Amino acid sequence: MVRKSLLFVCQQCGYSQVGWAGKCPECGSWNSLVETVQEREGKRAGAREKKTKTELISLASVPIKSTLRISTKISEFDRVLGGGLVCGQVVLIAGEPGIGKSTLLLQAADKLATRQDVLGNSKKGKTGASSHTSRVLYVSGEESVSQTKLRADRLGIKNKNIVLLEETDVDRVLDSIELMERRTDQRKEKKESSSVQLFNSSTVLIVDSIQTMTTSDLSGMAGSVGQIKECTYRLVRQAKSKNIPIFVVGHVTKEGTVAGPAVLMHIVDTVLWFEGDKSLTFRLLRAVKNRFGPTDEVGVFSMQEQGLESVNAPEKVFLSKGRGNVSGIAVASIMEGTRPILVEIQSLIVPTKLAFPRRVAQGIDSKRFELLLAVLTRRSGIPLYENDCFLNVSGGISIKNDPSGDLAICLSLASAYLDKPLPVRSVSIGEVSLLGDIREVVAQEKRIKEAKRLGYKTVISNREVGYLQEAIKKYLK
Ligand code: TYD
Ligand code: MG
Repeated sequence: MVRKSLLFVCQQCGYSQVGWAGKCPECGSWNSLVETVQEREGKRAGAREKKTKTELISLASVPIKSTLRISTKISEFDRVLGGGLVCGQVVLIAGEPGIGKSTLLLQAADKLATRQDVLGNSKKGKTGASSHTSRVLYVSGEESVSQTKLRADRLGIKNKNIVLLEETDVDRVLDSIELMERRTDQRKEKKESSSVQLFNSSTVLIVDSIQTMTTSDLSGMAGSVGQIKECTYRLVRQAKSKNIPIFVVGHVTKEGTVAGPAVLMHIVDTVLWFEGDKSLTFRLLRAVKNRFGPTDEVGVFSMQEQGLESVNAPEKVFLSKGRGNVSGIAVASIMEGTRPILVEIQSLIVPTKLAFPRRVAQGIDSKRFELLLAVLTRRSGIPLYENDCFLNVSGGISIKNDPSGDLAICLSLASAYLDKPLPVRSVSIGEVSLLGDIREVVAQEKRIKEAKRLGYKTVISNREVGYLQEAIKKYLK
């Protein structure tokens, strides 16, 4: 017999006790006790019996499980997932409230529920082994069924295979999944017993959001560390035992961590961050962790009236359209995952009478900005100490961790100062050192190729000029 008991366990040292305390009596850390369900075997014999069942398997003899992927039919979403969903995969989608998580998942639900072919086995026609339709259970703990319906109407989704459930009890959610699975199985048996089954399951579960889920086995409030951890464990267990993919929505706190613990990120298979400036239309979906694919992929979406659209050519979002011969503008190529994206850098330089001129930069690190201004002043003959300098990376994108934008930033500032435009359709790629020389950057060849493909004729990099001063002389005078 399995008996359940509640214990408060310290997340730092593992000490446990029956009641809560603000400070762990064992290691002295504050706020580290988390309510946890402990399952104990009633009989010792049972535990021993279980142990004897453990098997040792040689790595070479492990059978290869089919990793067929279910496409979400949203190209950028598939790209980030590494080609599609894998059965039994638990995906956490984390992002700030209002960024579009529910919208993305509802759209994915629609695509999954109308899908006909299985990836890698796409015979045309509706019958046969390759035809397959998922049923999606969309559990909303945040919004009522009618609110979700309103969103679906806005997105033009009227799919019969999407089942809505307004529920915050995770155990009831799991029961509903079992019920759905049983019904689908029965239907399958009736229909065709001879057809080859490609997927063990045809149900996809979406939980929006994990912070609203609770289990009655714990007394903590929804959103508490204990509840979030336990609910996620239960969902993961279900995903693995029933072999169904599960999407879990997680909110992000102001500090930028998934509310509740980072623990959540360890439990799930895949963590995707959904980010972007809410006042702008573009959104980035970034893989932070992925047990079934690469973690350096980024999907670009744009939020439109009818929902999110995949952006296959991101430069359309990040480059302004009516650019002619304007001074103060330079185009940089930054890497988002494995993909180079062109962004526009705009500068404005105004003479000032202030003792400490203003330096305002958006989208780049302010310390890096000051450093590059110093390099321009000292090494390149552009004296900026009597000017207010403003810089903006258009499209609201941030290039804080990528030094490959240095050259574009310097040239944009120099162009603004000299009031001379850079050559039309030119892109600047390079890191600028404190000595003012231009350095090669990671994946330079790939960036140049991508820029040329998009019709950029002039590439300014360390292959054309060695020093920043030289670049200014060559391209701005
Ligand atoms: P939502 O998916 O509710 O965000 P989250 O689940 O991450 O909290 O998205 C809400 C925002 O998206 C809201 O500000 C309105 C906007 N939106 C559109 O611009 N177009 C649309 O078609 C939809 C459904 C939402
Ligand atoms: Mg939502």
